[in-house]
Amino acid sequence: MQYSANTLEHHWMPFTPNREFKGAPRLVVKSKGVELWDHNGNRLLDGSSGLFCVAAGHGRPEIAQAVYAALLENDYTAPFNLAQPSSFEIARMVAALTPEDINHVFFANSGSEAIDTALKIAMAYHRARGEGQRTRFVSRERAYHGVNIGGTSLSGMVKNRETFTGVMPNVVCMRHTWLKENRFVRGQPENGAELADDLQRMVETYGGGTIAACFVEPVAGSTGVLVPPRGYLQRLREICDANGILLVFDEVITGFGRLGAAFAAQAFGVTPDIMTMAKALTNGAQPMGAIAVKDGIYDTIVNAAPAGAIELFHGYTCSAHPAACAAGIATQKIFEDEKLFERSAGLSNYFLDAVFALRDIELVTDIRGLGLLSGFDIAPGAAPGARGAQIQKNLFASGLHIKFTGDTGIFAPPLVTTRDQLDEMCAILRKTLEEFKD
Ligand SMILES: Cc1ncc(COP(=O)(O)O)c(C=O)c1O
Repeated sequence: MQYSANTLEHHWMPFTPNREFKGAPRLVVKSKGVELWDHNGNRLLDGSSGLFCVAAGHGRPEIAQAVYAALLENDYTAPFNLAQPSSFEIARMVAALTPEDINHVFFANSGSEAIDTALKIAMAYHRARGEGQRTRFVSRERAYHGVNIGGTSLSGMVKNRETFTGVMPNVVCMRHTWLKENRFVRGQPENGAELADDLQRMVETYGGGTIAACFVEPVAGSTGVLVPPRGYLQRLREICDANGILLVFDEVITGFGRLGAAFAAQAFGVTPDIMTMAKALTNGAQPMGAIAVKDGIYDTIVNAAPAGAIELFHGYTCSAHPAACAAGIATQKIFEDEKLFERSAGLSNYFLDAVFALRDIELVTDIRGLGLLSGFDIAPGAAPGARGAQIQKNLFASGLHIKFTGDTGIFAPPLVTTRDQLDEMCAILRKTLEEFKD
């Protein structure tokens, strides 16, 4: 099927050079497992699990059937002061996966909404315990926390913020954790834990009692997979504990087996106070975000309100939508039945061997990786990001979808990928990078 620029004009596409794309569109019309097909009938492999969400592979009939059945049975129930049963079931399933004392789950429709919800829960928690003066938030350079105003305010990526100056005040950024001497380190680098002391400097500069929460992606994902140095997250935890600051892990990418454990919290052995998640929660089949909090946070907010009163003035029309809950439950069953988190852990070494073997390619200036998540940097050309954009197109033409941020590729195959499929992906990557010309 052919599409002309005229047919495509009305959709204003997100994070896309619209004018260029519509002149030469890349449309996916079918997907199954780890494979995609474009509108010209070409087969591709999905090297980024869509946008890091399709952990169990595309086209899972269990999920499609569950969503269909849910919509036929009860397509919508107002989620305020009313409920439908599957929301409690998916909350229970999520709580079973989160660390021990994180057992209360609020639902949103995306990672961005999860982040804004987490900001508001942090504010509500401190206010409920009489510390409403904690209005400052700490984030990090090169952070990506979605695109709502809250997430944009926490963002550490210049392009995502420079147009939008009217963001939340009182956000300060720690340094990112990329260090030149850690280039090509596989897993957690030994150097750099002291970068966490930036949080201590914030405490000393602004007063620990003014800071509500510190938001970090345990592994900074969208900016190119920055694996935290050994001891870094532990140090953040200590500083937060010493100063009454909530530690928030944004697990939108790292959640649901990407690092070989349910969450990065378990993979790194550090328990945050609040976790945000989305993407693989429903295998990307329905929009859904979630915010899981420690019992003490839920209890504090709920118990501070008068009996019979609403405790948190927050929620979305589609919070815990029946179709999203059904997709989430079916997805979690697949994870469990197919032991996909264990599969991810078992495949990690093979994956990282294959990815780090690309280090001899002249164009590649750094590779990082942990679990089934890896980032590789390309030496920039005349304009930053131009090579990355071109390489992404060349890869697509050669049969591989990889998400690029600027000149950095993010390689994160579905957890169900076979070794043969990984080999095929890496062969396409090698050939495309070796043959690349500006
Ligand atoms: C760490 C992190 N937080 C938040 C988001 C935003 O999620 P969404 O695009 O579902 O709003 C993303 C998206 O990639 C993410 O990687």
